[in-house]
Order: sequence, then structure tokens, then C-alpha cells
Amino acid sequence: MKFFVDTADIEAISELNALGMVDGVTTNPSLIKKSGRDILEVTKEICDLVDGPVSAEVTATDAETMVKEGKKLLEIADNIAVKVPLTFDGLKACKELSDGGAMVNVTLCFSGNQALLAAKAGATFISPFIGRLDDIHLDGLELIEDIRTIYDNYGYDTEILAASIRTPNHVLDCARIGADVMTAPPAVIKALANHPLTDKGLATFLADIESAGIKIL
Ligand code: G3P
Repeated sequence: MKFFVDTADIEAISELNALGMVDGVTTNPSLIKKSGRDILEVTKEICDLVDGPVSAEVTATDAETMVKEGKKLLEIADNIAVKVPLTFDGLKACKELSDGGAMVNVTLCFSGNQALLAAKAGATFISPFIGRLDDIHLDGLELIEDIRTIYDNYGYDTEILAASIRTPNHVLDCARIGADVMTAPPAVIKALANHPLTDKGLATFLADIESAGIKIL
């Protein structure tokens, strides 16, 4: 499973990228706002840092302007994936941009039917939001399963990019189901390393190192 980082925080991306844990980056207007940076500037910096796809989201809601914005975003770098919302206009923009050879990430997906339409419109990535479904007591992982089944049934090559990932369990479940990509905040990716038995075992080893005076250097 590919790991994308869901942030526009350059330092956080650099830290994980140096460990080989960044296959791409996703941003959205809320993350750009959080960064306090200009969208074009910060996106360029991210694209210079990371080899994989960097999703940058349009701001318009009509297809024509989405396409214009998408083309401007595509000028930033070769690894830009234009992110459009899963509306009918977003699908029109997806079709036009993907027909022109661009990578397109269709976001804010909350149903299998929406995912089916995105695949038909040529999306490179579909972004189903797990956490936001869980927030309203629906099952975000069931959506990932549905989309996996639908895409496999018909051989669509649109990649399932599991988004709105909030916990390490979301990551594990997405990997079990077979999501192609997951995007998570840096803190969630780092938390994948944590296990209480690792901490407990290490505490014992450290106590033994201390009491036995074990030294390597
Ligand atoms: O990639 C989409 C993601 O940023 C949304 O996450 O936690 O705001 O639902 P969240």
C-alpha cells in the first residue's frame, strides 16, 4: 500500500520523506489554510521535495473554472494531481483534465456509486473519506470494501486513496481490504510505530543494560 501524507507542513513531510515513507502528498483547502502559506508557493515546495503525486485542490465549483484552475496547478510541476470535488461539475472537470493526460484525484467521496462515476470519468485516484463517515455513525471501512469490490468487478484502474484516516487501525484495515493508497496526517503515520509491548520490552532491556553495565561504544 502506498503512503501519502495528508498535510501541507513542509517540515513534517521532509521528516517522513527522509525515511522513505512518503509515496505522495495530499493537500486540501483546510490544510493550506492551516499552513498559512500561499497555495502555489507551498505546493511548489512540496513538489520539489517529493517524487510522487502531490494533490492540489481547485477552489471553483463550476467545471469550466475548475479546469482553468487545474491547468494552472499543473504548471507547478509534473507530479501534480489536480483534486476536484465529487460533484457533477467535478466529474466533468475530471474527464476533461484526465483526457488531457493529467492525474486527477476526485475527493469527498462517500458512496460506491460516486466512486463508480469517478472511475468512469477517468479519475486517477478516488478519495473516500473514512473518518467523516465514522463521525456520523456510518461505516467508512465498508465504503472502502464496496469500492474495492466494484473496481475489481469491472477492472477499473482508478486507485482507491483512503482518506480522512484518523487512527492506526484505519490504516491496518485499509491495508487488509486492499486500498491502493492511504493518506494520513503525519502524527497517524508516526503512531503506526507504537506498541505498548514494544515500550514494555524496551524498558526491561534498558533496566538490564543499566544493571549489567552493558556497553557497546
Ligand atoms: O484527505 C482528506 C482529509 O484531509 C480529511 O480528513 O480528518 O479532516 O476528515 P479529516
